[in-house]
Amino acid sequence: MSRATRAAPGQRPGRLAGKVALITGGESGIGLATARVFVAEGAHVLVSGIDREALARAGDELGPTALVAVADVTDEGAVAAAVARTLEAFGSLDVVFSNAGVAGPIGPLTACSVEAFRRVLDVHVVGAFIVLKHALPVLSDGGSVVINSSVVGLTADPGIAPYATAKHAQVGLMRVAAKEVAARGIRVTTIHPGPTSTPFQADVEQRATGLEPAAAADAFDQAIPLGRHASPEEVARLVLFLAGDESRFLTGATVALDGGMSI
Ligand SMILES: NC(=O)c1ccc[n+]([C@@H]2O[C@H](COP(=O)([O-])OP(=O)(O)OC[C@H]3O[C@@H](n4cnc5c(N)ncnc54)[C@H](O)[C@@H]3O)[C@@H](O)[C@H]2O)c1
Repeated sequence: MSRATRAAPGQRPGRLAGKVALITGGESGIGLATARVFVAEGAHVLVSGIDREALARAGDELGPTALVAVADVTDEGAVAAAVARTLEAFGSLDVVFSNAGVAGPIGPLTACSVEAFRRVLDVHVVGAFIVLKHALPVLSDGGSVVINSSVVGLTADPGIAPYATAKHAQVGLMRVAAKEVAARGIRVTTIHPGPTSTPFQADVEQRATGLEPAAAADAFDQAIPLGRHASPEEVARLVLFLAGDESRFLTGATVALDGGMSI
């Protein structure tokens, strides 16, 4: 399979034509929306995750320029294998979207078990670290790494100590990485989406408010100056911008996409 995706006559080449991307937690939600946009923009994509059935469905939908692989981001061997498979299949690695995540428990921090706190940090922080540890050495010069943090990586609310702590910690990891790889022209950023319409967020909202789905979503909308949730596609469009050459002087940045929620 040729890596460069050729544009049809009269069509502009995709914004990621010739690029190869690895997306973690790409079998649903924001990760899958991003995989769709990347493929549509000419990238070859390896989608990794832990849900075999959802991965298989994603692979069928995304078509021949995408591959799927089971890889728990907390399992170093599995992540190393996913990176190696990307290189084997597509010949390079230019973009990493570190996106895998879990919401964790909601409630006062004094009620949170140490195990539950550790598990959330393990997926978001240790997981992103493992992904960077194995991807950065083989990432093409000029490549881009985007870590999906959250609006609560910049702000905080009561009841989400493990999640907000993990999302803040991803910023520290991003800043160190951005400085370590800048000499190779590689850029590293965090994105900070506000509430985004996925089942993950619907579950958080219902647990946080005790309300029915629509009422819970409305309650969250009240806290967003632009008055609504983001769509996964809107987040994917930001990742596309950060992945591609249009953002080539942008690194070390925390990029909020939250309808003003963090103002
Ligand atoms: N939905 C929101 O409102 C929102 C807002 C800000 C940030 N985020 C972040 O965006 C990311 C994606 O969330 P989403 O809303 O699309 O939810 P989602 O549940 O659809 O996506 C998370 C994905 O990560 C995968 N995953 C979970 N644990 C994993 C592990 N150990 N190893 C590999 N994959 C694993 C899941 O299978 C799932 O596909 C998460 O990091 C989340 O914290 C979401």
